[in-house]
Amino acid sequence: MKQITAKSLRKMWLDFFKAKGHAVISSASLIPENDPTVLFTTAGMHPLVPYLLGEPHPAGKRLCDCQKCVRTGDIDEVGDAGHCTFFEMLGNWSLGDYFKDEMVKWSYEFLTSPDYLGISPENLAVTVFEGDDDCPRDEKTASLWKACGIKEENVFYLPKKHNWWGPAGLTGPCGSDTEMFVDTGKPKCSANCSPACDCGKYLEIWNDVFMEFNKTADGKYEPLSQRNVDTGMGLERVLKTLQGKSSVYETDVFAPIISKIEELSGRKYGESEETTRAMRIVADHVRTSTFILGDERGVTPSNVDQGYVLRRLLRRAVRFARSLGMSGKALVGISEAVVENYKDAYPELNANKDKIYAEIAAEVERFEKTLESGIKEFEKLAHYITNGVVSGKAAFKLYDTYGFPIEMTVELAKEHGLKVNTEDFEKAFEEHRAKSHAGAEQKFKGGLADNTDTVARLHTATHLMHRALKTVLNDENVNQKGSNITAERLRFDFSFGRGMTPEEIAEVERLVNEAIKADVEITCEEMTVEEAKNKGAVGLFASKYGEKVKVYTMGKYSCEICGGPHAHRTGELGRFKIVKEQSSSAGVRRIKAILASE
Ligand code: SER
Repeated sequence: MKQITAKSLRKMWLDFFKAKGHAVISSASLIPENDPTVLFTTAGMHPLVPYLLGEPHPAGKRLCDCQKCVRTGDIDEVGDAGHCTFFEMLGNWSLGDYFKDEMVKWSYEFLTSPDYLGISPENLAVTVFEGDDDCPRDEKTASLWKACGIKEENVFYLPKKHNWWGPAGLTGPCGSDTEMFVDTGKPKCSANCSPACDCGKYLEIWNDVFMEFNKTADGKYEPLSQRNVDTGMGLERVLKTLQGKSSVYETDVFAPIISKIEELSGRKYGESEETTRAMRIVADHVRTSTFILGDERGVTPSNVDQGYVLRRLLRRAVRFARSLGMSGKALVGISEAVVENYKDAYPELNANKDKIYAEIAAEVERFEKTLESGIKEFEKLAHYITNGVVSGKAAFKLYDTYGFPIEMTVELAKEHGLKVNTEDFEKAFEEHRAKSHAGAEQKFKGGLADNTDTVARLHTATHLMHRALKTVLNDENVNQKGSNITAERLRFDFSFGRGMTPEEIAEVERLVNEAIKADVEITCEEMTVEEAKNKGAVGLFASKYGEKVKVYTMGKYSCEICGGPHAHRTGELGRFKIVKEQSSSAGVRRIKAILASE
């Protein structure tokens, strides 16, 4: 097979779709905006949800990109040949433009043409949706594949479990899909062997979703106002398959990072199963942490939300680094290897590298201070356990005194053949939280990434408040760190070093309510990032390809780069009220606010 590197694959992808009339757009931040259902961007389509639901995109109806993604649901599986907590997804979209005919033809061309991946059609297998009450059997896509040259016996019909795709938050745009696999040529594991089984004969490389529905919070499938295509190709997975490697860690995205770990630890990848697993975990977790810390929205380690995930990744990496004979400080050197390997494709890593290394060093230091005594404590504890269960109270003590994330206690326990009473841990945790009024909000309930007018109004209020905060706190460096909106409230994280006074809070409320009373029209214009900057718009200016962005203006009250949607006039908002102002993490404050009907 053709020798393809990460760099050449990214370029090949974007060039191919550019030639088919697509605009190349920059990867969005890893931290989603205004979406209460997930902590990180989990797929290429995620930042595009408003456009898949009908908002016009400034770059047009055909888009392609390479999106950085984080999924930590399978963090415990990391260390095997395939699971990673960070990955890049190559994607292309039709927003109410082309549909199955073009997409299947192009997929076939990209996969088989010697100018692109050059996979022999003999080695390809595809799956299509078998049909149910919500959506009919996809004979159309099957016949398109066969017309391209895929053999009948390599087209498989599968149910929703396999051939349906919707976003991580359960609700939102979704539809049936067709998935593409490389047939490794291994014998079938049984007569029923198909791409649905994980025997290793078929390796998935691409997924084309035909989005026709919006799944609502009550579980209904409503037809979308436009039919979209959403495709996703996992870069690491394709490299592994095309480079003929047995794991993603041997491909060129990881090889220099693994080499660095070998150099720093004096161990050899592959010398034992344990070493290999530990090296993979360190490489994966440091890579993901580097991307989270280097993101335009820069998260830092904390005890809530994204900061907690980051803390957990770093602390877990420290533990496995130590099992390889390295000190936690080695993580900084490994992070340098990550930045080096990715800085051309993701310039933000280089731009933020000092911050990345400083935050890693600080977190490692915090953790190592207590780690050894914590592990000793755990071992003492384990020694006295007779029923095989570590009590929730003991687990909480490890959390509270030694900073052990509960997941780490569970893992340590597993190594000692013990279980942990996590229910009691949760109880102890809740009690403590209630007592300390920490107000940490950790549980994200899915289901409300909706597009209702209420959410649009709260989104508009968020813009007005962002501007008012800069004015009242007299600080242009007050910047958005995160925004999360449900039907009930807005929540806004921003950079600021101290708590606000009651007078400041009242003044922000007054300014926002003044803007609402003025009932100005909300307008949206498309322009380049440069033009937006010159106009004085706030927002993220990360754009690699000079593409256009949308700028929402609310009279003299706000001007911000944003995807929308928003209310039409500020007068639609009702009365704005801040219900809480508190610390979120070091240097970051969090506000919760509501819109009351008068
Ligand atoms: N959203 C689909 C996926 O994540 C295709 O992009 O696989």
